[in-house]
Amino acid sequence: MIELKNIKKSFGDKTILHDISAVMEAGKCNLIIGASGSGKTVLTKCMVGLFKPDEGEILYNDVNMLEMTEDERKQLRQQIGMLFQGSALFDSMTVEQNVMFPLNMFSTLSYKERKKRASEVLDRVNLKEAHNKFPAEISGGMKKRVGIARAIVLNPKYLFCDEPNSGLDPQTSMLIDKLIKEITVEYDITTIVVTHDMNSVMEIGDHIVYMHQGQKQWEGSNKDIIFSKNELLNEFIFASEFLQDAKQMRMMQENGDVPKQ
Ligand SMILES: Nc1ncnc2c1ncn2[C@@H]1O[C@H](COP(=O)(O)OP(=O)(O)OP(=O)(O)O)[C@@H](O)[C@H]1O
Ligand SMILES: [Mg+2]
Repeated sequence: MIELKNIKKSFGDKTILHDISAVMEAGKCNLIIGASGSGKTVLTKCMVGLFKPDEGEILYNDVNMLEMTEDERKQLRQQIGMLFQGSALFDSMTVEQNVMFPLNMFSTLSYKERKKRASEVLDRVNLKEAHNKFPAEISGGMKKRVGIARAIVLNPKYLFCDEPNSGLDPQTSMLIDKLIKEITVEYDITTIVVTHDMNSVMEIGDHIVYMHQGQKQWEGSNKDIIFSKNELLNEFIFASEFLQDAKQMRMMQENGDVPKQ
C-alpha cells in the first residue's frame, strides 16, 4: 500500500498540490483521474521520487520514502515499474533491446538469461513477433505493450502508468486496460494508472482518486462513483447527457429497480 499524507508541492509561487492525502491500495488498480492541469502527473512524479514534495509523507508499506537513505530509495526505485506517457521507448533500440534495458542496468543475470526474461515478458504482452522491430515500425498500441513489458521486466511491486491509453482507439485502449488489470492481479502488483479515459475508470478502477485544481476532491471505488453525489466528480465523469442517463440506469439496476439484461 502507498499512503499519501498531506502532500504539498509548489513551483515558484504557484501551488500545484494542496494538501493531498490518499491511499493506493495494495494489489489493486488505483486510478488517478482529473482534468488536464489538475496535478495528476506532478503527484505521480512525487510518488516515484522524481519530484520532492515541499511537505507531507509518502509511505510505502508504512515507511516514509522521503526519509529513506539513498540506498533504501534506490532499492525502492527498483521495485517500481513505469510506463511513461507516449511510451518513451528508445528509438534507436529494437523492441527486445528496449525491454532488456532495465535488466542491463539493474540485474546480474547473464546475457542469455536477460534475453530469456525479455522474451517471457514480451510473450506476456502478446508481442512474440516483434523482438527485432524498431519503435518506428510498430503501432501505437504495440508501443504501449512494449512499454508495459519494459515496466514489468524487473518484477516490480509497483507499476505506474501515465495515460496508457492516450492516442489509442477505444478497442485497443480496452485491450491495454485489460492487460494492465491482468498483470496487476497475476503478479500481485500495486498499480497506479493516470487516465482521462472514462471506460478505464469503470472497467479497471478498483480504487479511484479524483483530482481537481490540485486538490483531492473524491476517493472511492468505481461502484461508488455510480452513487456519488459529488457534483464536480459527476460533471467530470458523466459529462454528456448520454452518460448521465447511463448513470441513472446503472443506479436503478444496482438498486434492483430494473432487471439486468
Ligand atoms: N516542472 C514543472 N515546473 C513548473 N510547473 C509545472 C511543472 N510540472 C508541472 N507544472 C504545472 O503543474 C500543473 C499540473 O501539471 P500536471 O502535469 O501534473 O497536470 P496533469 O493533471 O497531469 O495534466 P494532463 O492531464 O494534461 O497531463 C500545471 O499547471 C503545470 O503547468
Ligand atoms: Mg499528466
